Amino acid sequence: PTKPINVVVTGAAGQIAYSLLYQLAAGTVFGPDQPINLHLLDIPVMMKVLEGVVMELEDLALPLLREIVPTADPAVAFKDVAAAFLVGAMPRKEGMERKDLLAANVEIFKVQGEALDKYARKDVKILVVGNPANTNALICSHYAPSIPKQNFSAMTRLDQNRAQAALAARLNVQVDQVKKVVIWGNHSSTQYPDAAHATVTLQGSTKSVPAALNQDNWLQTTFVETIQKRGAAVIAARKMSSAMSAAKAAGDHMRDWWMGTKPGEYVSMAVFSDGSYGIPENIVFSFPVTIEPRGQYKIVQGLPISEFARSKLTVTANELEEERTEAYKVLQKK
Ligand code: NAI
Repeated sequence: PTKPINVVVTGAAGQIAYSLLYQLAAGTVFGPDQPINLHLLDIPVMMKVLEGVVMELEDLALPLLREIVPTADPAVAFKDVAAAFLVGAMPRKEGMERKDLLAANVEIFKVQGEALDKYARKDVKILVVGNPANTNALICSHYAPSIPKQNFSAMTRLDQNRAQAALAARLNVQVDQVKKVVIWGNHSSTQYPDAAHATVTLQGSTKSVPAALNQDNWLQTTFVETIQKRGAAVIAARKMSSAMSAAKAAGDHMRDWWMGTKPGEYVSMAVFSDGSYGIPENIVFSFPVTIEPRGQYKIVQGLPISEFARSKLTVTANELEEERTEAYKVLQKK
């Protein structure tokens, strides 16, 4: 029988975790043969709420779920973990500036990076969901020097899923007929959702999405803006941020990283830039990647970048460099 792996979810009493934990316990992420121990980290004031989450996890009566460890102590939470979902973060409050938000989160991801460094498995796969996700991943890695940089990632899969769904709706096809949409850059409103390389299967034949859309400029205008602002649109309607879809995307991201991507397809993950596509190194930037089963991701090479795309890539890379500068300023003051 396969030995259980330890999986940590931070922000475990929050709304994304509430949807994510079920997927983990049900085996949709690590596979139906992989038992798991769930380590649930939240802050001390949330321990009572977390008790309720633990009760519900027990009541799922799912055989893959072995131990459940609720805690407010990072040393316990990160002990021997093989996978980490860093969901917990400081939410933006009324009147809070981006700088303040960054400062609060830099502190959280410093502590968690140090705990990962000390207590986690060295091959741990880390997915940062909590915002600002890309820069949080950068900080976290900075404080976990014994873990390879390639093991850190931030989530842009929700943006990819949104883009894929929007294209399918526009083309009037089922969502799985659209492939190879790319999200470039930051998980923020500067991200560039790019359908230039995407394909669609219509009546059994596969063609490029721009060709199928007859080259109208919808892809450069409405499409890009809709995806960039989708998170805000959900908040405006629901009065709370995307949670079910964010949890599903987190599961998709980790499953593909763990099990590999499908042949001929790629997915978007924010990872350390190695300079591909002229993007500056040492920022966590969303690229298209392919992954071998149980392997490392590889950034897809050689996609043609139009002038329009280049201008978008530059904007989002600049924003990430600014976030990095601000984050390091905060850290130096400490
Ligand atoms: P939430 O507010 O419902 O839950 C967050 C939880 O994190 C709370 O229980 C809080 O107590 C906990 N927390 C705060 N500081 C912590 C710490 N130091 N250690 C452990 N836990 C801590 O928020 P929700 O809706 O679950 O969202 C979580 C994060 O995910 C937010 O930062 C949100 O902006 C981000 N997000 C990212 C998306 C992406 O695509 N990358 C999509 C949607 C949300």
